[in-house]
Amino acid sequence: MRIPRKLEHVHHALQLGPGGNNGFGGVKLLPNCLPDISSDQIALKSRIGELTLSSPIIINAMTGGANETEEINRELAIAARETGLAMAVGSQMSAIKNPEVASSYQIVRKVNPNGLVFGNLGSEATVEQAERAVEMLRADALQIHLNVMQELIMPEGDRHFTGMLERIGAIVRQTGVPVMVKEVGFGMVRESVESLISIGVKMIDVGGAGGTNFAAIENARRGQPMGWLNDWGCNTAISLLEAIEAIHRANTDVSLLATGGISHAVDVCKALTLGASAVGIAGAFLKVQRTKGTAALIETVAAMHDELRLLMTAMGAGSIGALRTKPVVIVGEPERWCSARGIS
Ligand code: FNR
Repeated sequence: MRIPRKLEHVHHALQLGPGGNNGFGGVKLLPNCLPDISSDQIALKSRIGELTLSSPIIINAMTGGANETEEINRELAIAARETGLAMAVGSQMSAIKNPEVASSYQIVRKVNPNGLVFGNLGSEATVEQAERAVEMLRADALQIHLNVMQELIMPEGDRHFTGMLERIGAIVRQTGVPVMVKEVGFGMVRESVESLISIGVKMIDVGGAGGTNFAAIENARRGQPMGWLNDWGCNTAISLLEAIEAIHRANTDVSLLATGGISHAVDVCKALTLGASAVGIAGAFLKVQRTKGTAALIETVAAMHDELRLLMTAMGAGSIGALRTKPVVIVGEPERWCSARGIS
């Protein structure tokens, strides 16, 4: 991504806000009036692949590549350090191509030397670029983002999507850190998740629709030339259900993350109960940081942790693993979707 574009993305993401329906309205948690647990027994730690997280919430990939974005990354990293959240940086390709801007990403490691930091590149990256991205941050893991529709909407965007799986497979095999593949807000369906599983991907962020909407952002940047694509994609709850089905059918062990339009503890709890091991939040955290400051972001995360503990107490689940064993009821659109797609 060129540098001005990154700032425009921040600007439009803040202006447009979340894009609507993340699908979790159709996921109903069940109360437990005999929970047999006390709130101080609730543990929020989780695992994704080989990584242990002290919180199931992560600050998902957003930015880097210019002075202004360095400031954003610094403030997000302070919040990550103070709350124990893992944090991903935005695509590092600009720093791979122009090492002068590497400091706008490295600031994240500088302010949070012991935290979990994830690097980020697109699927066009080579193994060598992946290694450089990891080294740049001493990253604990590397995210590879998929954003086909965003590229297609941009006149200058990529049009060549051959060889993605082969390149990702090589990065998974040859990069010395765990690799997570993520969508940026258009979601994933079973068939795509099955392809990722087939090349050995062990961490998948379904990145569904319902939050930051890159079709709407790219359209807003140039007067809605393709406004008809603004509701492209699969919402986060449905993407998660599709991914769970793929993992179930493959009978394999893959950690799922749910990102896309999540801003409240209740949706975090729904995603975890459905089967996600962690939840990513991007736009909602960016908005709090930019409009209210870093202290407010730290308070927001602390409140979400408290609210999550409250919900887990009300469901009688002492851990993220226990939450996953609790039943949920799926109604409305996700229920109809699952029945049309043969998802049980
Ligand atoms: C993003 N996102 C993103 N993802 C990625 O993998 N690499 C990137 O460089 C970016 N850049 C970026 C910039 C801005 C300003 C935002 C808000 C988001 C996508 C992000 O990680 C996430 O998948 C989506 O934003 C959906 O989550 P939310 O925003 O609905 O919580």
